[in-house]
Amino acid sequence: MQVVKYVFQPHGDKRGQLIALEEFKDIPFKIKRVYYMYDTAEGVVRGHHAHKKLEQILVCIHGSCKIRLNNGVEEKIVPLEKPYEGLYVANNMWREMFDFSKDAVLLVFASELYDANDYIRDYDEFLDFITNEGGDKH
Ligand code: TYD
Repeated sequence: MQVVKYVFQPHGDKRGQLIALEEFKDIPFKIKRVYYMYDTAEGVVRGHHAHKKLEQILVCIHGSCKIRLNNGVEEKIVPLEKPYEGLYVANNMWREMFDFSKDAVLLVFASELYDANDYIRDYDEFLDFITNEGGDKH
């Protein structure tokens, strides 16, 4: 399984850093939705789902957290701790977000509007989906 991490270009000068992200340029899809998580309680694990269609880029713009990716065959844990790093999470990928620092802000760029029907929230159902629906193995 290939982990795709983007390193965004900061426009830094003596005032500080600025990162600009544009769809189809820095983000590999049309950005239809942006959301973020903060004030995550200690020990919380979020996610526990896959998406049939949705693609995402995750950026921990403050603090740190870890992302567990599982494509049904392999699992990888990716730490996110730099505001200039973006993790690409493809569709058909089981994900869990954990180890949030107290000050963590996890920003997500999403390729689709929110759609509860795009979620697979049961791991065995996820395995069935990628086997039977011809889901890509990323
Ligand atoms: P949830 O799916 O539980 O987050 P995660 O599984 O990634 O930890 O989402 C928490 C709540 O927020 C849930 O009530 C649905 C709502 N929500 C939206 O309304 N729009 C969104 O884009 C997202 C991601 C969640």
